[in-house]
Amino acid sequence: MRLDKFICSQKNNLSRKDIKELCRKGHVLVNGNVVKKSDFNVSENKDKVTVCGEEILYNRFLYIMLNKPKGVVCSTRDGKSPTVLSLVPENLMRKGLFPAGRLDKDTEGLVLITDDGELAHRILSPKKHVPKKYYVELERPVRENYKQAFEKGMKIDGGDICLPAKIEFVPGKENCCHVTLRQGMYHQIKRMFEALGNKVIYLKRISMGGLVLDENLAPGECLVIMHKDVERFFTPD
Ligand code: URA
Repeated sequence: MRLDKFICSQKNNLSRKDIKELCRKGHVLVNGNVVKKSDFNVSENKDKVTVCGEEILYNRFLYIMLNKPKGVVCSTRDGKSPTVLSLVPENLMRKGLFPAGRLDKDTEGLVLITDDGELAHRILSPKKHVPKKYYVELERPVRENYKQAFEKGMKIDGGDICLPAKIEFVPGKENCCHVTLRQGMYHQIKRMFEALGNKVIYLKRISMGGLVLDENLAPGECLVIMHKDVERFFTPD
């Protein structure tokens, strides 16, 4: 691959023109040697490329953990509302990024943004049943009988039958619980509680497979995840 193409693909904030200039000034090294020509050929998997002393690590795919705030939609474009992609910092932005899975506009929490279609498919495929855990606040207290209803697989409006789901009480908070789903039907958690005569007033996704939302990530903030970790988080035991 051409050196400028390689650097551009990993560093969105540098244009080919910038790289040409950096090469000319001797700021670009390949395996420790100054390379003055930006069309120099490199092997992205073998050569060590540094720009102004910073090593450019080759990531074929990018994986970004986002703490989605309310009011943002999980799509690549929307005429009216900001999308999750508008929250990706400029230096991480690259072609082909999309959210692997959806949350409602008013739901907060974990969204994985990637350009790895194969991994996204694995996470989202209904056959894989990747567990997704949510923190839920309800209008009224969580009742004991919800446990059985969730575990049995309940029928919700429109006749959909849910797969068995898990509900866990939150000690000291009678209106709150954690719910783990292994599927993702439209407004599923809201509809499940509606079927039980309750109402979701706050919803946040806290994990998908083994990937847990970083507690230090404020709503709207992103974090890059390494490929090897992503693989581990979505490989069943
Ligand atoms: N269930 C819902 O009702 N909404 C979401 O965003 C996710 C799960």
